[in-house]
Amino acid sequence: MNDPQKTQNFKILAFETSCDDTSVSVINSNYEVLANLISSQTTHEDFGGVVPELASRLHLKNIMQLTKATLEKAALTFKDIDAIAVSVNPGLIGALLVGVSFAKSLAFSLKKPLIAVNHMLGHLYANKIGNPFLEPPYLALIVSGGHTELVDFKAMNDFVVIGKTRDDAAGEAFDKVAKLLDLGYPGGPLIDNISKNGDPEFHRFPRALNKKDNHDFSFSGLKTSVRNYLEKHDAMFIEKHKADIAASIQTAIVDSLVSKTISYAIKAKIKVITVSGGVSANSLLRKEIVNQSRRTGIEVYYPALEYCMDNAAMIGAAAIDKFKNKDFADLTLNAFSTKGIRNI
Ligand code: KG4
Ligand code: ZN
Repeated sequence: MNDPQKTQNFKILAFETSCDDTSVSVINSNYEVLANLISSQTTHEDFGGVVPELASRLHLKNIMQLTKATLEKAALTFKDIDAIAVSVNPGLIGALLVGVSFAKSLAFSLKKPLIAVNHMLGHLYANKIGNPFLEPPYLALIVSGGHTELVDFKAMNDFVVIGKTRDDAAGEAFDKVAKLLDLGYPGGPLIDNISKNGDPEFHRFPRALNKKDNHDFSFSGLKTSVRNYLEKHDAMFIEKHKADIAASIQTAIVDSLVSKTISYAIKAKIKVITVSGGVSANSLLRKEIVNQSRRTGIEVYYPALEYCMDNAAMIGAAAIDKFKNKDFADLTLNAFSTKGIRNI
């Protein structure tokens, strides 16, 4: 029988349950996604944010059915799978534990290797899907609902976090200002959408920590400034200029992300930038980072929209190198809630 590690021809069944999306995927060793199903939990919309306990219960309700549907979509059975991958941190602890427990049971019963993947590393590897020849070194900007990290990435086990947020994450900033503007949840796509009809220079909101050699981010001051601005203006003015205000906020967030990323890339002479995480779906961020990088001869990669938000295909993509290196977890594997990108 063929040894999949030797032939480098293998398939990974991957799970992602870190927040409010249950996702199951099958990816092969060429970074081809054979199926990637996502069940998004809409229950949380009524609460204006994710309710952790509800998220865990819905993962539990969905995961078995979604696994069957994923295998069916890929026209495979459990026998065709060579390894099981799962995201273990960061995320909501109860939500992560559903995926980890399910993955461990499958690995044990099917006698397949188990691979633990850091969720942020998964976001970073989302760029391998569609660009399988993309290789480090590169500068990775990972922007999600819970984290904002600028990573000098040399290899799976060799990277340095150059900058991160000191308070709110970029996605969290989008979500919080959208709430202040009464737009709904999640705020990022709603702000992105309404901004298309707004004037991005209508009002200049602050860009924090904008000293040249500071690569950390901060968005809580922006949020306060939006709140003060809205308090100073009457409801009719805000309603009339909602798109202008949203576009001005979006520009401030994108400006911080792009300028800090590019200035570090220039300083460190890095020629490739990757952007990933939920906020990498933002249309202005995608446009601006490409425009500004082009001027300095830097190449930019970002994932197809379906791989920006939480999805299991990216967890499978990060597991491919781990499978080749036999970097397996055992059944004592646990989930951890709070850390950003790190080796596990
Ligand atoms: O990576 P992700 O799916 O989940 C986490 O790991 O947190 O990111 C979700 C975040 C949310 O804050 C959401 O508002 C934001 O990504 N987001 C966007 C856009 N689409 C999603 N932010 C700005 N523009 C978008 N188009
Ligand atoms: Zn995420």
